[in-house]
Amino acid sequence: MIKPSPANLDLKNRPIGVFDSGLGGLTVVNQLMHYLPQESIIYFGDTARVPYGTKSPETIRKFAIQITQYLQSQGVKFIVVACNTVSSVAMENVIELSSVPVIGVIQPGARAALEKSKIRRIGVIGTSATVAAGKYNSVLLSMAPDVAVFSQACPLFVPLVEEGWIDSEVTEMVARIYLESLMRQSIDTLILGCTHYPIIKETIKKVVDGDVEIVDSAIQTALEVREVLSSKNLLNASGTPPKYQFYVSDFPQKFEDIARRLLGQTPENIRRISLDDCV
Ligand code: DGL
Repeated sequence: MIKPSPANLDLKNRPIGVFDSGLGGLTVVNQLMHYLPQESIIYFGDTARVPYGTKSPETIRKFAIQITQYLQSQGVKFIVVACNTVSSVAMENVIELSSVPVIGVIQPGARAALEKSKIRRIGVIGTSATVAAGKYNSVLLSMAPDVAVFSQACPLFVPLVEEGWIDSEVTEMVARIYLESLMRQSIDTLILGCTHYPIIKETIKKVVDGDVEIVDSAIQTALEVREVLSSKNLLNASGTPPKYQFYVSDFPQKFEDIARRLLGQTPENIRRISLDDCV
């Protein structure tokens, strides 16, 4: 039997780095905790600069590069870009900069949608930047050339979620307006192409036709992280309890409430950091 080298062992025990523009990426953290309970996680939510989805690709790339540098400085073994906007606009920059494997949320979401869709008419909702980048369209078409994709930007959803307006009538009304035209396209599957949207999934469900399958890429992303870690022999096998660290660039009032709602527990170790100070 080949004994693992100490260097490799050390790498296996390092945390997974996960980031988003704000709180939305916690939906992915939640699934990572579930499917990879032995893994430690460092989460960074750029709460001081959220939303990213209304910003230019240059600005989004700059932010993504800073966060990647930060996570690397923390010694992560893997980076999960838990933000569709960054995955759409700056994935190449993150991959180029990173010395560890990187996964985004677009491919897993697209794969999950194709598995669910029977008639290959798929709707995608996301931020303005995600919809403008058209990454879901190109990825879905590369996986299934016969698919028809219909996209809709929903820029008000992220501020509503960050404000904690989860079950509100206002959110439902906004959802109705945004989703009306998509519903006319007779889609059978809807991709929640923003990691904030699973938080208002119940509201979205109320306004889409009952038989439309709703795809949240968080589960699929967590499963693919597990697959890649396993194939690279990077699964944590130390047997020690995982450590979760949460970093934000600002403390929005609702952060703890929403984080608790998303993770089913009050997150400990939430710390505020300024990326300007550390990279
Ligand atoms: N969670 C981010 C995403 O998946 C939200 C984007 C934003 O900050 O506007 O796209």
